[in-house]
Amino acid sequence: MAPTVSTNPLRDPRDRRLPRLPDASALVVFGATGDLARKKLIPAVYDLAHRGLLPPGFVLLGFARRDWPDEDFAEFARQAAEKGARTPFRAEVWDRLAGSVRFLPGSFDDDAAFDRLARTLESLEHSHGIRGNAAFYLSIPPSAFPVVLKQMQRTGLSSAAGSGGWRRVVVEKPFGHDLESARQLNALVDDVFTPSGVFRIDHYLGKETVQNLFALRFANTLFEPIWNSQFVDSVQITMAEDVGIGTRAGFYDETGAARDVLQNHLLQLLALTAMEEPVSFGAETIRTEKLKVLRAVSLPMDLTRYAVRGQYEQGWLAGERVPGYLDEQDIPAQSRTETFSAVRLGIETRRWAGVPFYLRTGKRLPRRVTEVAIFFKKAPHLPFDETATTELGNNQLVIRVQPDEGVTLKFGSKVPGSAMEVRDVAMDFLFGEAFTEALPEAYERLILDVLLGDATLFPNNAEVEESWRIVDPLERHWAGTTPHRYRAGTWGPAAADEMLAHDGRRWRRP
Ligand SMILES: NC(=O)c1ccc[n+]([C@@H]2O[C@H](COP(=O)([O-])OP(=O)(O)OC[C@H]3O[C@@H](n4cnc5c(N)ncnc54)[C@H](OP(=O)(O)O)[C@@H]3O)[C@@H](O)[C@H]2O)c1
Repeated sequence: MAPTVSTNPLRDPRDRRLPRLPDASALVVFGATGDLARKKLIPAVYDLAHRGLLPPGFVLLGFARRDWPDEDFAEFARQAAEKGARTPFRAEVWDRLAGSVRFLPGSFDDDAAFDRLARTLESLEHSHGIRGNAAFYLSIPPSAFPVVLKQMQRTGLSSAAGSGGWRRVVVEKPFGHDLESARQLNALVDDVFTPSGVFRIDHYLGKETVQNLFALRFANTLFEPIWNSQFVDSVQITMAEDVGIGTRAGFYDETGAARDVLQNHLLQLLALTAMEEPVSFGAETIRTEKLKVLRAVSLPMDLTRYAVRGQYEQGWLAGERVPGYLDEQDIPAQSRTETFSAVRLGIETRRWAGVPFYLRTGKRLPRRVTEVAIFFKKAPHLPFDETATTELGNNQLVIRVQPDEGVTLKFGSKVPGSAMEVRDVAMDFLFGEAFTEALPEAYERLILDVLLGDATLFPNNAEVEESWRIVDPLERHWAGTTPHRYRAGTWGPAAADEMLAHDGRRWRRP
């Protein structure tokens, strides 16, 4: 095991004034010229450097098919950081980082390029004291995962046994396209790296508001006693986007909303909402509890009614006319890919039996919002005139993941006046108002955790496979069917509203 900063005898690990710093190490980004690297990964590395969270011996190593010397990649990375960083861009921070930016040109089927990479990492042991420590970020098309993993196995890049350091791999979603392909990929990744060195990214887990679910539920006494089927009527989890498919037509048309969002982000949010309290706050204990929830998830018998998918038609958004999915560039005119999906799931445990969990996601919906809404049961008895409570709905606890990050509690209050009238009011907590510290980007947190070796916020292989077990039957049910249509700028197809209406409920308007 490589020594970590916390082994410093002058440093008390309980002291929170000084952040934990990773070991001197290299972050190797395969696909360093791609969209994700440019928009998210490189800016996140800059933000970490700006916050003083990278060790002095940190090296950023880009790998892609450009014939670039280090300086060209450094310039590309500087522009990406300047454009995408969350924290202010400061030349002195960048200049310090730029001295440790390297580029390796090469294609994934090019043995010589991977041999060069292995030699470069060896030389960094001397120049930067990385002692063999390296994390490999696979920011590449999913079809290239196997070839890159095999190259790393062939060249011994996946093991730092000789130097005593660590080797880790970060795998981007989508992790497979069904259970079978996920199993094959898991088997390969776990064969090439040790399972504890594999970090599967679900960037939603890097969001502060998602982690706040742990604090909300397990650091307070208020919510946990009512967090069960005795008090909860239903749960709605929404991830809505106002944008269309952008420039990722090829990827999206093969994937669709259920595989792109429901299989990972929505099911992870469901698992965090429904899980039991972990015995401690550690990677294994949290993953164990999430896995128990995913294993207990049941699908509705009537999939036609309770698993709805849709595709947007042209419409209006924010005063602008937007094209329908079939008119988007590079989308086949006959495409049956869904851009919206909604499903009712059950959780077969003592805590949740009988409570429906409604999940929905879609593109070209009226606004960008992600939230978890807990609907509580109505009071068993209301000692008022019937007319006094016509404006009173279910009590609701809404965890706003993004934007306007925070929590809202909705409950009934007397309307001022001489008559007794009860109406819904809201109590709001906003991160932006309660704290002066701005929220870090998810990728900042996750890259730092990879370098620290902390897997708490990364789903493991069993969770990924269990999520496909839930999604595969939906895909089979939908195969060959045509998605319902919905106008861009609306909250999805009528069939999604009918699904809740049939249960006597309505979707929340976020
Ligand atoms: N973009 C997003 O917002 C986003 C969000 C979530 C997850 N992801 C996932 O992140 C990964 C990367 O996505 P992306 O959008 O960044 O993809 P992208 O823009 O297509 O970038 C792909 C990168 O891989 C490199 N590459 C492709 N084939 C190669 C080969 N044979 N040899 C060497 N390099 C090769 C490309 O280098 P060249 O410059 O040489 O072509 C480029 O740097 C994917 O798994 C995607 O599903 C992306």
